[in-house]
Amino acid sequence: MTAIHPPAQKVWWKQPVDRIELVWIGIALVWCLIMFFFMPFWHVYGEQNYSGEAYRVPPERFTEKVNEFVEQYTVRHETDRQIPVVRPPAGSDIYLLGRLWDWYPILELEKGETYRLHVSSTDWQHGLSIQPININFQVLPGYEMVLNITPTEAGEYAVVCNEYCGILHHAMLSKLYVVDNSN
Ligand code: CUA
Repeated sequence: MTAIHPPAQKVWWKQPVDRIELVWIGIALVWCLIMFFFMPFWHVYGEQNYSGEAYRVPPERFTEKVNEFVEQYTVRHETDRQIPVVRPPAGSDIYLLGRLWDWYPILELEKGETYRLHVSSTDWQHGLSIQPININFQVLPGYEMVLNITPTEAGEYAVVCNEYCGILHHAMLSKLYVVDNSN
């Protein structure tokens, strides 16, 4: 008996369900329910939700804020494109702009301090991914999203665009520094 040649006389939906089949249906059902209830559970207890602040902002206005921020706190420039590295005071509002095709500026933060990170885009949709930690965030033009972040490990992190945004999407890379000033 195969699926290609089913028994001619048997009406398959009148056949009794095999016990082992019922067991598998049961296992699949229980697993579905576990996964289903894990969604709201993780939302509350997973500690992976962002702080939920979003504001409308015209891209030009956001660019102004970023430029003011960069002018105030730039400490040096890096790479042959002279991208400013910005070292804002601990606990302050900090800005990161996604655009075709870079992240601007490079941020240098202090370990253990909490910052309010404002993120937006001036053109397309980008995806803010900070590696190797698990941050992955949609960045949209017209919206200023605010994330409360507290770096817990000093080091150099990679900032990657995680949303396809055109021909140089793969080159939309940057860095984020976290320095330890406690010792
Ligand atoms: Cu920006 Cu991909």
